[in-house]
Amino acid sequence: MFHSLLVDQPDPIIVTMQKYHADSRPHKLDLGVGVYKDASGHTPIMKVIKSAEKALWEQETTKSYTSLVGDSAFNTAIQKLVLGDLASFDGRLASAATAGGTGAVRAAFELVHLASPDATIWVSNPSWSNHASMLDYLNIPNQHYRFFDPSTGTVDMDGMMADLRYAKAGDVVLLHGCCHNPTGLSLSPKQWDDIIELMKTQNLVPMVDIAYQGFGDGLDEDAYGVRRIASSLPEVLIASSCSKNFGIYRERTGCVIVVSPDQKQTNLVQSKLSLVNRVNYSFPPDHGARLVTMVLNDPELKVQWQNELGEIRQGIQSLRRMLSDELQRQTNSDRFKFIAEHRGMFSMLGLSQEQVSRLSDEFAIYAVSDSRINMAGLNEASVPLLANAVAKII
Ligand code: LMR
Repeated sequence: MFHSLLVDQPDPIIVTMQKYHADSRPHKLDLGVGVYKDASGHTPIMKVIKSAEKALWEQETTKSYTSLVGDSAFNTAIQKLVLGDLASFDGRLASAATAGGTGAVRAAFELVHLASPDATIWVSNPSWSNHASMLDYLNIPNQHYRFFDPSTGTVDMDGMMADLRYAKAGDVVLLHGCCHNPTGLSLSPKQWDDIIELMKTQNLVPMVDIAYQGFGDGLDEDAYGVRRIASSLPEVLIASSCSKNFGIYRERTGCVIVVSPDQKQTNLVQSKLSLVNRVNYSFPPDHGARLVTMVLNDPELKVQWQNELGEIRQGIQSLRRMLSDELQRQTNSDRFKFIAEHRGMFSMLGLSQEQVSRLSDEFAIYAVSDSRINMAGLNEASVPLLANAVAKII
């Protein structure tokens, strides 16, 4: 029966990961998949997570199931982290722990499809490659809206607004909460306001994927957009990931949150989130969620986490400045100035696929085919090497 299966278009991020691993050159440089790395190229476990794990090992007395939507303490802790003050959301929040941020995105997509199979989900161009893959896989109608102006490295607000005018009432607009993947752009307060106005006027439903909270300007600063949306519109879908900001990638820890106008709808949504988890994998993973809850609910651990995350954020910002300066020096142009202004792990260098292939073939530097690089894959020594390679191929 399986002979009829069609070969898939491979995910460009996974392809880059595989090519990097297959390269035996010792000086190879991985700027592909979005994981944080320290200056030695290692992805460390945060100290605060190690402390929580130690305490958990001592305290935990059972590995029995939690609930279909995970531990309620985790859901509440993430609601607070993402939305801040929950006072105005009384009876309006449904949520579920999921297998990573991807699981949260998938649950939100499935919920949309259950409620409104004809709704189109509007995805930025470009976006995280797996957004469109999941939508196509689930047969959910989806369309792109313009988002990035490669000539300036900024948000193409006019293009975005013009494209979203074609969205029909009840369609969903997928936005990145901060540190857009792959462009590294974060929307300004004015841009958020303009998009909110458009969604209000056209009766569109926002969905915010927030996978890098804390990597841009700070935990609260990065949540500005999602909080503004949640306080302005009656229905909002949110997919939050703990993979990056807690560094617990392989623990698969995420949370889907749905804001509804009232308690009645919240109950309905909550039961559908249980169903979606049940039919996909039954009970969500708990280990990572438990560690996150311990960190967020213990004032001392929380401060320690914020400090560690702050160091990561500042490290990435300083690499951005270094790379931007070095590229300006080596290319004798300000073409790459935008890198210092972007936020989070990623920026797109604006290279063609062929130029990206030359980076890997000639210099053993691995970027994703759309020329996305992971800033955290760099260090002081590799910044000039990358700049030199880019200068040679452009
Ligand atoms: C990325 O964009 O590199 C990460 O979100 C990892 C992934 O699953 O693609």
